This record gives sequence, C-alpha cells and structure tokens, in this order.
Amino acid sequence: MSLPFAPGLFLGQVALITGGGTGIGLATAKRFVELGGRVAIASRKEANLDAGTRALREVGGPDCVYAKACDTREPVQVDALVDAVVGHFGRIDVLVNNAGGQFPTAAQHLAPKGWEAVIRNNLNGTWFMTHAVANKAMIPQKRGRIVNVIAQIYRGFPGMVHTGAARAGVENMTKTLAVEWAPHGMRVNAVAPGFIKSSGTDQYPPELVAKAAKACPLRRGGTPDEVARLILVLASEQFDFVTGETWYIDGGQKLWGDVWQFEDEV
Ligand SMILES: NC(=O)c1ccc[n+]([C@@H]2O[C@H](COP(=O)([O-])OP(=O)(O)OC[C@H]3O[C@@H](n4cnc5c(N)ncnc54)[C@H](OP(=O)(O)O)[C@@H]3O)[C@@H](O)[C@H]2O)c1
Repeated sequence: MSLPFAPGLFLGQVALITGGGTGIGLATAKRFVELGGRVAIASRKEANLDAGTRALREVGGPDCVYAKACDTREPVQVDALVDAVVGHFGRIDVLVNNAGGQFPTAAQHLAPKGWEAVIRNNLNGTWFMTHAVANKAMIPQKRGRIVNVIAQIYRGFPGMVHTGAARAGVENMTKTLAVEWAPHGMRVNAVAPGFIKSSGTDQYPPELVAKAAKACPLRRGGTPDEVARLILVLASEQFDFVTGETWYIDGGQKLWGDVWQFEDEV
C-alpha cells in the first residue's frame, strides 16, 4: 500500500519500539524508517531482534536501526536499554509500548502465577519503560510522544481477564500521564487493536482465529500495517492536539460480535 503520510515525516526523529522485531512492532518500525526516522527495537529474543534488524536495514539502510535485548518486566534492564538508546542516537522522540503477550483462559481457572505473569508483562513492563524514557529523554528534551498498544477492552475481555485488567491499567495511565506530562511537551495516547492477524495470534487455535475474524462488522482481522499506520498518526506532529485518548482499530468489533465464545472454549 502506498504511504498515506508525507515523505520525510519523521526525518531526524528517533523511535524506541518495544517488541519491534515482530508483528505490529516491526510493521511500525518499518513505516517509521520509511518516513525518514531511525528506530531502536527491543525485546527478549535475539532471534527476533536479528530478523527485525535485517528487515529494517532493507528499508532504511545500515544505520537506521539499533537493537538491544531487554525484558521490559525488569527495571534494571529497562534503564540499561534506555541509557544505551540515548547513548547511541542522542534522543528519543517517540516511544511505542508494544511489547506484550497473554493467553486465553477462563477466569475461574486462572492461577496466581498466570495472573502475575500477564500483569507484569503488560502493565508493569509498560510503566517501567514509560518512566525511564520520560526521565532520561523526553522530560529533559521538553518533547516526546508515547503510544501505548493496548487491546479492544471496551466490553471487558471475557476469556482473558488478566490482559483486560492490565490493558485497562495502561489506558488509565495514558490519561494520567497525558495531563501530568503535558507541561513537558509530551503527548500520551493509546491504540486498542481488535483481532489482528500477526505473529502474536498465530499461536492461537485456528478455529478461534477464524471465529475472531468473523466476529466484527467488517468480517476480517486487521493487519499489523493497519495498526502501524494508526500508531504513526498519533506519533506524528500532524496530531499534536490529541492527547490522553484511546483510538480503537478493530473493524467495529467493540460494538458487535463475540470473539471469544468462552463458555465453549476455555
Ligand atoms: N494481534 C492481535 O490481535 C492483538 C490484539 C490486541 C493487542 N495486541 C497486542 O499488540 C502487541 C503486539 O502484538 P503482535 O500481534 O504483534 O504479537 P507479537 O509478534 O507476539 O508481539 C509481541 C512482541 O512483544 C515482545 N515481548 C513480549 N514480552 C516481552 C517482554 N517481557 N520484554 C520485551 N519484549 C517482549 C515479543 O518479543 P520477544 O518474544 O523477543 O520478547 C514480541 O516482539 C502485543 O502487546 C499484543 O498483546 C495484539
């Protein structure tokens, strides 16, 4: 698909994208680089970072990407990552908190360990990264844009109570920080994807995936690139009067259709 943005929109800018080696994160990194920016990608697995780095260099050349392993659940690793990115590029203009993961489960059968794992990953990890990037880069720069990738949780999240709660926490954090950090020239928004066909959903049972694709008015799953383009809208200067918002990208799924037939399946 041709670019819906002005060429060079992110020229001279640096984005840190967590989970930037795969799926929605990689699609966002590719678009950012295509539009003139440079990206830092971070996740746990070197294999994901290596593959992402190769893909990004094909788009933006050898110097467009910096990759470093980091588990966002660990504040010490997060601090080291942010120091390294600022050391490498000198600044961070855009943070995309995209790293995350969860698993389908009936709330009744969810053990404390499973609950804690998802809360640590999707809520704590987002907070540690946000706090470090704000303090080490964006507040001193007096400028920054943060986009949090959450999920379509409009009607709760039956079948995934853990991630519903974590994402609701991030959504509320988005509003709070939009207000607290506005005087620092920062904007903070969230995107809430519905079902997106990506590396993340490849792991789900095929029958669940087929059902999820039909369970929205547009009768299909979204693509990582469609989410990437919304993230970049919110990260760009074209939308500098938008902050504290959650933008859904779900084919209308929040209004109609049950993705998770949880009585039958979990
Ligand atoms: N696809 C959908 O339908 C959908 C819908 C709503 C929301 N989302 C959310 O959108 C985001 C991207 O999803 P996706 O579909 O692109 O799936 P994905 O490819 O599985 O993306 C998740 C990324 O996060 C990284 N990650 C996970 N835990 C991490 C941690 N503790 N520290 C650092 N990196 C970590 C993973 O890399 P490593 O394994 O290398 O760490 C991976 O690159 C996720 O937060 C997902 O939950 C997806």
